[in-house]
Amino acid sequence: MTHPFLAACRREPADRVPVWMMRQAGRYQPSYRAVREKVSFLELCRSPELIAQVTVAPIDEFGFDAAILFSDILVHLPAMGLDLSFEKGEKGRGDGGPRISNPVRTRADVDALRIPEPGRDLPYVLDGVRATRRALGGRVPLIGFVGGPFTVASYAVEGGSQGFTRLKTLLWTDPAAAHALFEKLTRAAIVQIEAQIAAGAEAAQIFESWLGELAREDLEEFSFPYLARVAEAVRRSGVPAIFFSTGTACHLERLATLGYDVLSVDWRVPIADARARAPGVAIQGNYDSTLLLGPRENAVARARSMLQAAGPRPGYIFNLGHGIQVGTPTENVKAVVDAVHAFRRE
Ligand code: CP3
Repeated sequence: MTHPFLAACRREPADRVPVWMMRQAGRYQPSYRAVREKVSFLELCRSPELIAQVTVAPIDEFGFDAAILFSDILVHLPAMGLDLSFEKGEKGRGDGGPRISNPVRTRADVDALRIPEPGRDLPYVLDGVRATRRALGGRVPLIGFVGGPFTVASYAVEGGSQGFTRLKTLLWTDPAAAHALFEKLTRAAIVQIEAQIAAGAEAAQIFESWLGELAREDLEEFSFPYLARVAEAVRRSGVPAIFFSTGTACHLERLATLGYDVLSVDWRVPIADARARAPGVAIQGNYDSTLLLGPRENAVARARSMLQAAGPRPGYIFNLGHGIQVGTPTENVKAVVDAVHAFRRE
């Protein structure tokens, strides 16, 4: 029988609404923090055994209906020639942001970027997929992922989480260099996601988190053609393609034409509107992750009202509008997952 998550991706009927949460493996979990006391974030991303362990932990702990490979959208940048590190978090905040010491600023920098060969450059990711499939034993499907070209470019050009001004200025000052950069990042995304699927990933999510930064005109020129190519590659590999972005609900009808099976939306659009405006794709989302900070009764009540609003039509996956926040009480995550599983339409 098709698992409820894969059925929902295909807009086929399922016996319940499937639920998983972006960043379901992370620092809000004591079990994850225990692993991170022993190894750095990049060491964790490079160990197939630890990848499997932290990917499966939230399935065991909370009963999510899908696992997402533990990795990062930037892991391939060293193989492309960029010097990537993750800084130790500030006290109290706990955020270890990415840093690139030799960011891409000129056409020559773009031309020097290499396309990674996943089998040679990222074997630990593919071994991580295989180890995770073995550890899951068929309980829930495994989602592979890559970053979208615009979001990865924002880190590559700015040198970290420092906004979008340099990248956006590049689009207008040297559009040919910008296109060459997006072309390379698109090819890098395609070879990586194809390799993850070949290794056993059963669905693929494209994280284009910061796409809401661009005006429609720029999306049409610098983003949508590349995103359509990634979608086509995933679908050719035979697994569902999920597109995630934030702040883009104003473009929903257009996003639904790019070739993805599922669009993941944030809380800025009412879930019923999203479903009505994009009837030809499945919808994933769009719970505000801040609700999970509490109070718990409110978090559960809001999950129920969202499920009610999402409606009975097949093709809905309960998820957040963006990742789980550090400091989220694990009891609240458990309570919301249980509420989704217990939900029966009124
Ligand atoms: O969702 C999951 O559980 C899978 C794992 C996953 C991580 N990063 C683990 C991670 C996924 C899918 C990502 C994607 C990712 N990485 C995105 C797109 C999604 C989004 O949140 O918008 C982005 C922009 C990145 C780049 C990145 N990685 C940043 C900006 C940071 C630092 C800020 C932060 O949120 O912690 C990371 C580090 C990172 N990636 C951590 C985790 C669990 C924290 C590392 C740690 O200290 O343990």
